Amino acid sequence: QFYPVILAGGSGERFWPLSRKSKPKQFLSLDDSGLSLIQATVQRLTGIRGVEVEDILIVTGVDHRMQVLEHLPELPTENLLVEPVARDTAAAVLYAALRVAQMDPNGLMGVFHSDHRVDQPEVFSRVVQQAITLASARDVLVTIGIEATYPSVAYGYIERGEAVSDDMEFSAYHVARFAEKPDSARAQEFLDTGRYSWNSGMFVWKVQTILAAFERYQPELLAELSAAVSQRGGVRKVYPTLQKTSIDYAILEKADNVVVIPAEFGWDDLGDWNALERLLRGQGENAAVGRHVGIDTGGAILYTTNGDDLIATIGLEDVVVVRTNEVTLVVHKDRTQDIKKLVQQLKENP
Ligand code: GDD
Ligand code: MG
Repeated sequence: QFYPVILAGGSGERFWPLSRKSKPKQFLSLDDSGLSLIQATVQRLTGIRGVEVEDILIVTGVDHRMQVLEHLPELPTENLLVEPVARDTAAAVLYAALRVAQMDPNGLMGVFHSDHRVDQPEVFSRVVQQAITLASARDVLVTIGIEATYPSVAYGYIERGEAVSDDMEFSAYHVARFAEKPDSARAQEFLDTGRYSWNSGMFVWKVQTILAAFERYQPELLAELSAAVSQRGGVRKVYPTLQKTSIDYAILEKADNVVVIPAEFGWDDLGDWNALERLLRGQGENAAVGRHVGIDTGGAILYTTNGDDLIATIGLEDVVVVRTNEVTLVVHKDRTQDIKKLVQQLKENP
């Protein structure tokens, strides 16, 4: 049995003013599908053969518990694992692994993010099926790799080594090296070799295989959290004391049984407002959600939360305009990463 786990504990400041601490990226609807990113994630996962919504576990913070349930009314409440505080993804993955092991010690587990774009859900399903096949047959940590096309410093990089086997219907490789978020010089070096994929953050493994990896590389985290889950109120007490580290640093950079399936399904981490262009590709020269009229406006990204509101522009290139009920943001496309700074300033001087 396959249990997909969705990590949904991020904060997502770079989509301000749409995202707020109270409403991080996974709850936003960034295209015009009407679905929030977390709803789209669940829809994509239930599109995989044999996966029902009852099989999906979601790990989120206590502040976002109600929002997850509002967005996903069909999710059984016991499938929600609530963290009292965020301790990054190693703890979140382990928490879910311990739960899966309780329900089904022979279970297979998948890890997915709550806030990604996937253009081709059928291809995505097929790749996850392949990952399931591979992880059932071997004690490996299967990662899904995406072709690296520019030297991003926001992603982990996976170097392909030897092919896992010649007689499979799809390609998979032993991972020669897993490097989480290199600086831009190293990212460029990786790209130049042509041997690297980006880490999509999607993983498939037997629950016993990942628990064995925690045993070997993070024995303290494993001991503390497994003790906590077996006693009432244990998680609430222990969680704040857990080490804050990501699954990438804690396990994947260290383990020697990591494999990668290179895949291509129109994937994006939707890092900031510029990602809207990729999301809305093919909908005209300007990427607009909501009403927009423009004269001599090129390469703009325009977003209104209230569909009746109109954004009008004249003689502008490469701007982002976002209009919500309370805020209008106008920013050059090259400066969207600095929205974080702006949010910081606002926190200091509201
Ligand atoms: N439950 C829970 N608790 N979820 C969390 C926590 C936490 O403490 N921290 C982050 N998450 C969730 C986020 O909501 C997101 O869905 C996912 O885990 C990944 O966290 P990010 O913070 O978005 O990671 P990242 O994008 O910087 O880097 C990771 O993803 C990249 C691909 O998007 C790494 O795995 C990279 O190697 C990878 O390339
Ligand atoms: Mg991310």
